[in-house]
Amino acid sequence: MKELLISLAIGFTLLTCQTSCCTQKEKEVFKPIQVETPDRPSGQKDVIQLVTPKLETVRVGFIGLGMRGPGAVERFAYIPGTKVVALCDIRPECVEKSQNILKKAGLPEAASYTGTEDAWKQLCERDDIDLVYIATDWKHHAEMGVYAMEHGKHVAIEVPAAMTLEEIWKLINTSEKTRKHCMQLENCVYDFFEMTTLNMAQQGVFGEVLHVEGSYIHNLEDFWPYYWNNWRMDYNRLHRGDVYATHGMGPACQILNIHRGDRMKTLVAMDTKAVNGPAFIKKQTGEDVKDFQNGDQTTTIIRTENERTMLIQHNVMTPRPYSRMYQVVGTDGYASKYPIEEYCLRPSQVKGDEIPNHENLNAHGSVPADVKQALMAKYRSPILDQELEETAKKVGGHGGMDYIMDYRLIYCLRNGLPLDMDVYDLAEWCCMAELTRLSIENNSAPVEIPDFTRGGWNKVKGFQYAFAK
Ligand SMILES: NC(=O)c1ccc[n+]([C@@H]2O[C@H](COP(=O)([O-])OP(=O)(O)OC[C@H]3O[C@@H](n4cnc5c(N)ncnc54)[C@H](O)[C@@H]3O)[C@@H](O)[C@H]2O)c1
Repeated sequence: MKELLISLAIGFTLLTCQTSCCTQKEKEVFKPIQVETPDRPSGQKDVIQLVTPKLETVRVGFIGLGMRGPGAVERFAYIPGTKVVALCDIRPECVEKSQNILKKAGLPEAASYTGTEDAWKQLCERDDIDLVYIATDWKHHAEMGVYAMEHGKHVAIEVPAAMTLEEIWKLINTSEKTRKHCMQLENCVYDFFEMTTLNMAQQGVFGEVLHVEGSYIHNLEDFWPYYWNNWRMDYNRLHRGDVYATHGMGPACQILNIHRGDRMKTLVAMDTKAVNGPAFIKKQTGEDVKDFQNGDQTTTIIRTENERTMLIQHNVMTPRPYSRMYQVVGTDGYASKYPIEEYCLRPSQVKGDEIPNHENLNAHGSVPADVKQALMAKYRSPILDQELEETAKKVGGHGGMDYIMDYRLIYCLRNGLPLDMDVYDLAEWCCMAELTRLSIENNSAPVEIPDFTRGGWNKVKGFQYAFAK
């Protein structure tokens, strides 16, 4: 009889087979680092497909009106069924600037909250607001979101909505307890190419999607001085890991149906040394920073329950063309947004008279421009109609995707529909900050990714947008 000796060592399990035929070590299985999944508070249930009463007019309060916030105020001036009730920023001149946006749009003045660190609480405490829209620095996001939900508001929070697992669980627990929506304002899932490609994937054009790449590659050296109180560089200085992963994660997770039939299980991360961050500080202030945490390039690989993978990158430090990668690898086809938008497909995947010369495609080169154009037209996202597409392009915000994001949020709230992105999406896309750091600080050891739905990840089959009947 075989004798199996299982010995536990630090960080991995050693399986040793001791028989006459085999005395050598057979298999070493590394156990991923585990983080705690807190129990769901008693009496609470998940908010998967949460629906809330229809709102004829969505009354909004904005907090954080620096570089990003005012664009949202401006977009809301175009969205039907909205009313901007209140504006808040710690800096009075920022509130003033957004009041002027309202004035220019012919809208009434909103209530102003400013001047103190805590003025935003009064905005959340008002009883004539349905939605609090948060675009402050990262450190304030989760606290503000929790407080707003506790005061009966839905919340929409800029990216990343949470920076730690503790913050993530607080947002989840509060959304589940209050039955209020908690959406992260991830705009990149509404880019025209990403939306079209998602639709193509859902129609099977790429076969089974096996691997997706996403990134935030954006050299911020021209932007660092403009963040309020230097918050962004300070954050990078103090924190290792992928601290801004959501633009890459969002589209990748949607196409892989994460917590809608699949779930992320394990990640490993690596980073380079930090060179340009400390060099920037030295140049600006003369300070010699020896302990700058965030590497110039951070790379993460994730494996899912259904044995598919994701590759996620973060680089805000070195000269490189802007890129969110968005590369989709399927058994029968491929899509890439960066560095160039292209599709590669087996001829058998492309049918229909509206697609030109589809017999001449090959599975190792991009489809020609006329085929790509026809595919983009054929697989236009179901959430786009002519009017929305035209308004989005006119109002703008990263080419229109910001407008579509806000429009969909309001459309779903007004029609009492589940939002396109729920609090578990927020959790999955934001957990990268802490979990990648954990991996990197432990020699790139695998780290287990919690099931933020606490058992509900397989309830819904496939990502879907909701529509009013
Ligand atoms: N989705 C995107 O494409 C995109 C693009 C840019 C920025 N962002 C995100 O938007 C957020 C804001 O970034 P930004 O570039 O506007 O930064 P910013 O520094 O220009 O603005 C932050 C604002 O928050 C205000 N603020 C800070 N503490 C406050 C408090 N206690 N009460 C009220 N106001 C307070 C500051 O005065 C400042 O005006 C960040 O989360 C960022 O990651 C997202």
